[in-house]
Amino acid sequence: MAQEVSLDLGERSYRIAIGGGLLANASTYDGLPPGSAALIVSNTTVAPLYAASLRAALAGRYAQIHEVRLPDGEEHKNWQTLQLIFDVLLEQGCDRKTVLFALGGGVVGDMTGFAAASYMRGIPFVQVPTTLLAQVDSSVGGKTGINHPLGKNMVGAFYQPQRVVCDLDVLSTLPAREFSAGLAEVIKYGPIADMDFLDWLERHVGDLMAHDGTALAHAVRSSCEIKAAVVGQDEKESGLRAILNFGHTFGHAIEAGMGYGVWLHGEGVAAGMVMAAELSRRLGMVDEAFVQRLTTLIRRAGLPTKGPILDTQDNAGRYLELMRIDKKSEAGEIRFVLIDGPGKAVVRGAPDALVREVIDACCE
Ligand code: NAD
Ligand code: GLY
Repeated sequence: MAQEVSLDLGERSYRIAIGGGLLANASTYDGLPPGSAALIVSNTTVAPLYAASLRAALAGRYAQIHEVRLPDGEEHKNWQTLQLIFDVLLEQGCDRKTVLFALGGGVVGDMTGFAAASYMRGIPFVQVPTTLLAQVDSSVGGKTGINHPLGKNMVGAFYQPQRVVCDLDVLSTLPAREFSAGLAEVIKYGPIADMDFLDWLERHVGDLMAHDGTALAHAVRSSCEIKAAVVGQDEKESGLRAILNFGHTFGHAIEAGMGYGVWLHGEGVAAGMVMAAELSRRLGMVDEAFVQRLTTLIRRAGLPTKGPILDTQDNAGRYLELMRIDKKSEAGEIRFVLIDGPGKAVVRGAPDALVREVIDACCE
């Protein structure tokens, strides 16, 4: 039985469907905008597993169903790969009623969304997320884009999908490391917004690691509810939405500093959350017990709790240099998502010297 979460954004509102067997069920796609053509955008790993099922489910709805398989990996989230989507759209004569289906993890979802935002100045798209990370975070809320060698997700657009289809069954083929990476984005919702959810995660992280269906459904639904509530209040991140980037300022520095794809996004976020919690502690906002609690949960989810050394000469300096490129930076000042008491996040700056101490203490 599918569950639904709504993201309320006026005329851009949409539903997030969560459950088993959704991807291959034709009725999942009832009510989408009409069009004569669809383009399934996937990658070389996910398409062989699920594109045929999606194509069959869409067959009665679209006269033509095209497909493009992108190279797999964060290192391919760039202009060259994006161009492959536009190549197919133009080669196949796709008009502005063509519906894009993003079938994959966050990389495919972010790029497909950006292609949808810009092809003929905007065409409809549907998110069919196939990683835990994409189901609990990246497919919801309309952030789309690509990386630049100098900074992560630096080029993109806010552009909402028509629907999000979270089929929990597809998570069975996800490698364990990727599953853990998704748990990082699940865990983040506790400290920033909902300590009851953090309590629940502490009780059920073992069930989640064992792919228990009931626990998974609860984790995905709760994550989507929290994210939908935040995005519903601040779609374009003029304020509140930035709290969803807890751990990401340090995490993006790790991803860019190591080279995209070496550390997974969720792994960077995991170590980054420990660093951000430790910075919060050193600023007197949370106590040691809170940092330990979060660190233990992150470790139990199979995730790193220490950041990597990015530069053996001046590691903290390298982190600071990379973090200044963050989208939250203002006039060169790095702004962090910090925990101001359990369950409450704030965005603020911190003295470089203190940030250096945290990096020195939290990297190995
Ligand atoms: P990903 O898209 O690279 O997918 C991870 C790996 O799993 C890939 O190799 C993929 O091919 C494979 N895979 C996907 N589904 C599978 C399945 N069901 N079975 C087997 N293999 C499968 O990574 P991700 O963690 O999903 O997403 C990370 C990206 O999401 C980053 O680029 C990050 O910046 C972005 N992101 C965006 C937002 C947003 O709000 N738009 C939020 C968080 C993260
Ligand atoms: N993943 C952060 C956001 O969507 O705002």
